Amino acid sequence: MISNELHPAEIRRNLKTEKFGNIIVLFDSVDSTNTASTRLAEAGFPEGTVVTASEQVRGRGRKERKWFSNSVDSLVFSMILKPKKLPIGLTSLLAYSIIETLDNFCKGTMMKWPNDIYYKGRKIGGILAEGSNEYMVIGAGLNINQREEDFPNELLLIASSLRIANGNRFDRGVILCRIIEVFERNYKNWENNGFPVFKEAVEARLLYINTDVIITNGNMHKSGELIGITEEGYLLLRCGDEVNVFSSGDLSLRRIKE
Ligand code: ATP
Ligand code: BTN
Repeated sequence: MISNELHPAEIRRNLKTEKFGNIIVLFDSVDSTNTASTRLAEAGFPEGTVVTASEQVRGRGRKERKWFSNSVDSLVFSMILKPKKLPIGLTSLLAYSIIETLDNFCKGTMMKWPNDIYYKGRKIGGILAEGSNEYMVIGAGLNINQREEDFPNELLLIASSLRIANGNRFDRGVILCRIIEVFERNYKNWENNGFPVFKEAVEARLLYINTDVIITNGNMHKSGELIGITEEGYLLLRCGDEVNVFSSGDLSLRRIKE
């Protein structure tokens, strides 16, 4: 029987971690789990605190774009981080951790660098990282149990869900537990060894690798072949004879269709 509800006590019982998820805050309804996590981080909540919600009414993407979620079908959560070093590559590290986890439920999701999760050309998840000097908040939204007709019109050609991908309904609490466990392991590895240890694995799941793409940031447009990432997790674009490096920020990446 698939549960429609999220139960913090059950998530805690199910969770095999040292630090992440020791505190789980579940809201029935929240503006945004990132905004709520920021409030909690300001109030002194520790690293590893997980904030989730049955309903999120003002979910945000990058550049204040809206993140759509509906209350029974979506998984939305955020985590408080207090990294001991510069937080470079953490958005991609969470995207990769989610992809690694989802392989157990729906094989073949990919990362649209740096913050989106795609399955067969459709977006099923996104990540938003925000920070101050003292802490960072990193949140993810995942489409789990939606059917096509559950998405608003403007997302019909853009979005997909795990259910649309493979026909099954999933327990959001179970997926959340597994993501937190994988992220804790990967985050420890990142703290000890940095992003280079993830470079190859991330490149293997990079959408549009070895194809021509266009990168946009405000008025800046650059096209070239996406050839991989650096050891820090920055994007590498071959443009004629030169290779350009892009750090994440607010960049948009699109494929140039043949
Ligand atoms: P890019 O990353 O290339 O700038 P993007 O459109 O993915 O493009 P983001 O800021 O990463 O931009 O994501 C926000 C966008 O995600 C929204 O503008 C909307 O198009 C899309 N979106 C919002 N909610 C969902 C959802 N539940 N599932 C899939 N896509 C969504
Ligand atoms: C994007 O694709 O631009 C990122 C979307 C991030 C959405 C998640 S849902 C949980 C957390 N709370 C938010 O308001 N945003 C993130």
